[in-house]
Amino acid sequence: MKTTIAEVGKYVGQDVTIGVWLANKRSSGKIAFLQLRDGTGFIQGVVVKNEVAEEVFENAKSITQETSLYVTGEVREDKRSPFGYELGIKKIEIIHDAIEYPITPKEHGVEFLMDHRHLWLRSKKQHAVMKIRNEVIRATYEFFNNNGFTKVDPPILTGSAPEGTTELFATKYFDEDAYLSQSGQLYMEAAAMALGKVFSFGPTFRAEKSKTRRHLIEFWMIEPEMAFYEFEDNLRVQEEYVSYIVQSVLNNCKLELGVLERDVAKLEKITAPFPRISYDDAIQFLKDKGFTDIEWGDDFGAPHETAIAESYEKPVFITHYPTTLKPFYMQPHPTREDVVLCADLIAPEGYGEIIGGSERIHDHNLLKQRLEEHGLLDGAYKWYLELRQYGSVPHSGFGLGLERTVAWISGVEHVRETIPFPRLLNRLYP
Ligand code: 4AD
Ligand code: MG
Repeated sequence: MKTTIAEVGKYVGQDVTIGVWLANKRSSGKIAFLQLRDGTGFIQGVVVKNEVAEEVFENAKSITQETSLYVTGEVREDKRSPFGYELGIKKIEIIHDAIEYPITPKEHGVEFLMDHRHLWLRSKKQHAVMKIRNEVIRATYEFFNNNGFTKVDPPILTGSAPEGTTELFATKYFDEDAYLSQSGQLYMEAAAMALGKVFSFGPTFRAEKSKTRRHLIEFWMIEPEMAFYEFEDNLRVQEEYVSYIVQSVLNNCKLELGVLERDVAKLEKITAPFPRISYDDAIQFLKDKGFTDIEWGDDFGAPHETAIAESYEKPVFITHYPTTLKPFYMQPHPTREDVVLCADLIAPEGYGEIIGGSERIHDHNLLKQRLEEHGLLDGAYKWYLELRQYGSVPHSGFGLGLERTVAWISGVEHVRETIPFPRLLNRLYP
């Protein structure tokens, strides 16, 4: 019976054949332990010298790391391994011998691993992170589909810059100037007026010269947008959504969280509702904590965000930022000129901002004024302003960064390990 590692539990006591690669091995004169992987999982294969043909044992001892092979053997329960099964190997058929594999079980430097990302992806830890990423994606579609949202795909080639012009990837669109999308939000607002509750999920680009553990040049964003949703309604969707994906990973990625040695007790606490702190109070809190480098009106840096997040076990919303710090489209506070109806969601454990969101301006004249103030009242935003002329309604939305979220849930230090082929400052290879 030909099967996969993920499916072996169905065949306990039976012989199966699996196409695998050799991840690692240990052997003595009498027994060889092969760590095998097939993409669906990892399993230990055991070859006992005096139970198999001589040639099988010789093969087991001599095969090199990452050689591909078909193994045939009996599936056994194995209480000692977290996976729960091992394979008593009877037959080995080599498909392709690997030449000296560059990534060995010893420690390698990060640059070396990043240069070999096409191979590094095969390792157990990277496999676990990709599985968790996939679960976050799966749970995202499930959450929004279960809650009456329609997926809408905004364009990637655009003429507008929702988050400001400093971080744009410019390109040519035949004779016109175009940009790679830094956010689909403006288009999602149009879609929300057509479909009520919508979400997008796609790549976004920021030509940011930031070299931190939280910044990618190309990252994936989930952007929901909801007609008739005001500031508070927006926060409720966010806390329910984030709780849902964390609980989904806890339920469906136990092995992977184990491989990553993630402290799951911390994740188990992630349930709605989430705490909130206003920007005003956050500034005061930081001053009380002894931060002398921040004043009302300043944006938070990573150390500030981390200090705030450390006071909570759950993600925390920082609400009502100064108008001057945020993009042109945010709805002003009803009784204050100086702050807007927005919130950033800060993950625990130093992972920083995972969501940025707000209520949007729906008044035509106010939006026109804001566009003017930002020097954006030109052709590229004409359609966006027009949305406010035909039954404009209060609406809100947010953007969640997939890689930062996966980094936090997986407990990996740097976002570069949470996307298959990271695009970083100075890195376009592989
Ligand atoms: O806060 P941002 O810039 O918000 C927007 O783009 C809004 N238009 C979204 C919306 O309301 N529809 O980005 C949203 C999130 C951040 O909180 C962060 O998680 C992620 O996107 N993000 C990045 N992730 C990795 N690398 C970068 N350079 C990122 N920039 C933002
Ligand atoms: Mg932001």
